[in-house]
Amino acid sequence: ISLKPYNTFSIPVSAHYFAEIFTPSALEELLESKLIKEQPLLILGGGSNLLFTKDFNGLVIKISIPGISANVQGDDVIVTAGAGVVWNDFVNYCVQNGFAGVENLSLIPGTVGASPIQNIGAYGVELKDVFASCSAYEIATGKRREFNHEEARFGYRDSIFKNELKGQYIIAEVSFRLSRVARINTQYGAIQEELTKRGIDLPTIADVSAVVAHIRVSKLPDPSTIGNAGSFFKNPVIEEKAFKEVHEKFPELVHYPAGKGKVKLAAGWLIEQCGFKGKVVGQTGTWKNQALVLVNHGQATGQEVYSFSENIIDTVAARFGVRLEREVNIL
Ligand code: FAD
Ligand code: EPU
Repeated sequence: ISLKPYNTFSIPVSAHYFAEIFTPSALEELLESKLIKEQPLLILGGGSNLLFTKDFNGLVIKISIPGISANVQGDDVIVTAGAGVVWNDFVNYCVQNGFAGVENLSLIPGTVGASPIQNIGAYGVELKDVFASCSAYEIATGKRREFNHEEARFGYRDSIFKNELKGQYIIAEVSFRLSRVARINTQYGAIQEELTKRGIDLPTIADVSAVVAHIRVSKLPDPSTIGNAGSFFKNPVIEEKAFKEVHEKFPELVHYPAGKGKVKLAAGWLIEQCGFKGKVVGQTGTWKNQALVLVNHGQATGQEVYSFSENIIDTVAARFGVRLEREVNIL
C-alpha cells in the first residue's frame, strides 16, 4: 500500500502491511495476532511528524479510534478523546463548548493520540499544561495501562514515549484537564499584536483560537498543497556558558530563557542566517516564511530531504558551533 496519502511530507513510499484500527477491542485483537510479533511496526496517526526515507517493510497500524466526551465538575472539566480524533477537531470542540486550555494549540496537524508523544506546543502553551492522563496498550503484552502526568515525563518536544518506552506503547485515549473559566494566554507577542489590530481588548478563547490560526496560516505551509512536517528541527537548548560564547560573536542571536542555566535558541534564525531561508534545492528546500520548515516541492524523495537536513546541520554547526537536532521522526 502506498503511504503517500498518509504522510504530510507526501513522500511516495509503501508499506508491506497496513491496518487501520477504529476501536480499542480491534486493537486488542490485533495485538494478540501473530502478525504483530513477526515484523517491524509503525504506529501512525496523521503522519504529520514523520519523514520516510525508504519503504516500510513491516506493518503500519493507523490509529483511528474516534470519540470525545466531557465530564464537568464545577469550573473544571475533564475531556477525554480517542487517539484517532483529529487534534484540531478536538480543539474546536473545546472552544465551542467553552472549555479553555487548548485554544493556543489550534490548527496543529495530527491526532490526539500523538499529542503526548512529543508534548506538542505552540504560542505559549504545551500539551503538558493540560494533560491529565492517557490510556495505552503495551505492544509486547497487549495489556492496557494508564499514564499520569508525572509518568509521562514531559519535556520540550519530549516525553517517556520518545525515550525509555519508545515504540512500546500504543496510546488509545487521552484525557485533558480544562477549565470553564478562561485563562487567556497572550504572552506570545504576535497574538497580542493581532488582537490589538482587530480591536479586541477582552479576548475570548474563540478569539485566541482564530488569531492563532491566522498567524499559523501566514507562516506555515499548508501540507495539502506543499508537503512538510512543521518544524524539522528542535530549537536547541544550550548551557549558559556555551550561549555566552555564541552571543558574544552574534549579538543579534534570537534566544529565550529555558530554565536554570539553560538558554533556548531560535533554530529558524540560525538557519536563516546561513542563507537557507526560502532556498530551493532540487525538489526540497526551506519554507519562504519559516526557515525551520523543510518542504517537498512536489517530487522529493525522503532521502533528498534528509540529505538537505544534514547539509543544514553541518552548516549551522560550522557557523555557530551549535548542532541542531531533528524534531521530525526519521524512518
Ligand atoms: P504521526 O506523525 O503519525 O506520528 C508521530 C510519532 O508519534 C510517531 O513516532 C508515531 O509512531 C507516534 N504515534 C502516533 N500516534 C500514536 C499513538 N496513538 N500511540 C503511540 N504512538 C503514536 N507540532 C508541535 O508540537 N507544534 C506545532 O506548532 C506544530 N506545527 C506543525 C505544523 C505543520 C504544518 C505540520 C505539518 C506539523 C506540525 N507539528 C507541530 C508537528 C505535528 O503536528 C505533531 O507532532 C503531531 O502531534 C503529530 O501527530 P500525528 O498524528 O500526525 O503523528
Ligand atoms: N526566525 C527567524 N527566521 C525564520 C524563522 C524564525 O529569524 O525563518 C526567528 C524569529 O526571530 C522568530 C523566532 O525565530 O521570532 C521564533 O520563530 P517562530 O515564532 O516562528 O517559532 P519557532 O521557534 O520557529 C516554534 C515551534 C513551532 C510552533 C512555534 C509557535 C519548535 C521546534 N517549533 O517554532 O512548532 O508552532 O514555535 O509557538 O519548537 C512544530 O513543532 O512543528 C512547530 C511548528
